[in-house]
Amino acid sequence: MNADRPIGVFDSGVGGLTVVRALMERLPREAIVYFGDTARVPYGIKSVATIEHFAAQITDFLLGQNVKMLIVACNTMAAVAGDVIRAHAGAIPVIDVIEAGARAAVANPDHGGIGVIGTPTTINSNAYARRIHELDPSARVHSQACPLFVPLVEEGWLDHPVTRMTAQEYLRPVLAEDIGSLVLGCTHYPLLKPLLKDVIGPGVRLVDSASTTAQLAAESLQAMGLASSRAGPPAYRYVVTDIPLRFQTIGERFLGRSLGKVERLDW
Ligand code: DGL
Repeated sequence: MNADRPIGVFDSGVGGLTVVRALMERLPREAIVYFGDTARVPYGIKSVATIEHFAAQITDFLLGQNVKMLIVACNTMAAVAGDVIRAHAGAIPVIDVIEAGARAAVANPDHGGIGVIGTPTTINSNAYARRIHELDPSARVHSQACPLFVPLVEEGWLDHPVTRMTAQEYLRPVLAEDIGSLVLGCTHYPLLKPLLKDVIGPGVRLVDSASTTAQLAAESLQAMGLASSRAGPPAYRYVVTDIPLRFQTIGERFLGRSLGKVERLDW
């Protein structure tokens, strides 16, 4: 297989750009095709059947772009549609944020209790807790859905009293459980890191599933002999199903750099 083929990254909308940002930093030679289903976002409050259907469509689209690897950046899709995506992907390797986040959470042998936060669909699926228990059956996992975080982040309220109060409210039951780490199980949450650090205090480690996914992708590409060795800068494509007015601004906040051209797919 040609190692210079792009990596396909998919998400329900703009949030997966946090994973793209981490990939650009960790794997600067890799070309990326990003797919954001901005016409149908949010996924985090939708049913499993609907998400499976959407995820299968996106997988087929990305496979049509000749990708060498798929990265499921959306925690909600990874939580409930991982099997469907892998079945459609066939021989193309699939990496997802839940696998990466779960591995990072148990990596430290003294990890203590593990808190997991995410969208209602991710938390109700129990996917993080299941994977963490497969990796370490003795782990204590305390999960909490935080549905208001996605709109607060998209509003840009990253350091706002309303967001702080919301975080204190959501995290109260998790923090009462004596946790050693907190897994950010949603694409949007890495942007809340500074505020969350304040709320949880210095004793709790934050596990950022964006950077852990980039690390897992780097290891997997290396192990499979699929790492690109291209000399010049790689191509980045952004394909979305709708371009709302604020998309560019929000996207650049997630990506930490200018987005350039965004292609709209008419599905
Ligand atoms: N991308 C989703 C996730 O990581 C958050 C946004 C949504 O609900 O679609 O769970």
